[in-house]
Amino acid sequence: MDNALRLQYLEAMGIDVWLPRGSVHGEQAFSPEVIDNAGPEITASATDNWDELQAEVAGCTKCALCKTRTQTVFGLGNKQADWMLVGEAPGQHEDEQGLPFVGSAGLLLTEMLRAIGLTRDEVFITNILKCRPPNNRDPRADEVESCNDYLQRQLKLIQPKIILAVGRIAAQTLLKTDMTLARLRGKVHAYNNTPVVVVYHPAYLLRSLPEKRKAWQDLQLAIQTVKECEG
Ligand code: URA
Repeated sequence: MDNALRLQYLEAMGIDVWLPRGSVHGEQAFSPEVIDNAGPEITASATDNWDELQAEVAGCTKCALCKTRTQTVFGLGNKQADWMLVGEAPGQHEDEQGLPFVGSAGLLLTEMLRAIGLTRDEVFITNILKCRPPNNRDPRADEVESCNDYLQRQLKLIQPKIILAVGRIAAQTLLKTDMTLARLRGKVHAYNNTPVVVVYHPAYLLRSLPEKRKAWQDLQLAIQTVKECEG
């Protein structure tokens, strides 16, 4: 990405462009207010492995989305990542390329990570659904149910220190709630024993500049949470 576009994204997020890469200074992070617990026990077998899981996802016909997808989008990144990012579902570009978050929202997500000193190679990025819903409609309950096993097995294999739920649908699905994103953000939740921090979806941030500072606060909270896990 050229520098001008990068700076535009950073500015859209309210991130001062002089921020040293990797710095966690800036606005005060939120104090965690509540710990929720959501999600069933993860049931991947001890012998589960990436290649098998990836092949299963690639050939999945568990729901009707297999008929309309171009290809599945398994997820991408570090299989031993401390940070696992979970979005909603592939969009058009992701469906075409077989990779998560590759459209303009993906570029902003990359910049959000960069602003907190992370590259996409250091994290693992996936979605609740591995197939694109037609016209990017919201995932249906049966589709979420069909895909749930794949996400759980990914979590079990990676064992991240933190899950970033990217956007309302991912947050509500992971945390099994219909609370608004505004109420879910700014708190540390848990999925089994893994902390979950909810962040605004970059596609929403691209449209809603007033929320940019909150996005930065959410990232700070995530950093603080990982540090506390390590400490
Ligand atoms: N939005 C998402 O939630 N996931 C993607 O992979 C792309 C856009």
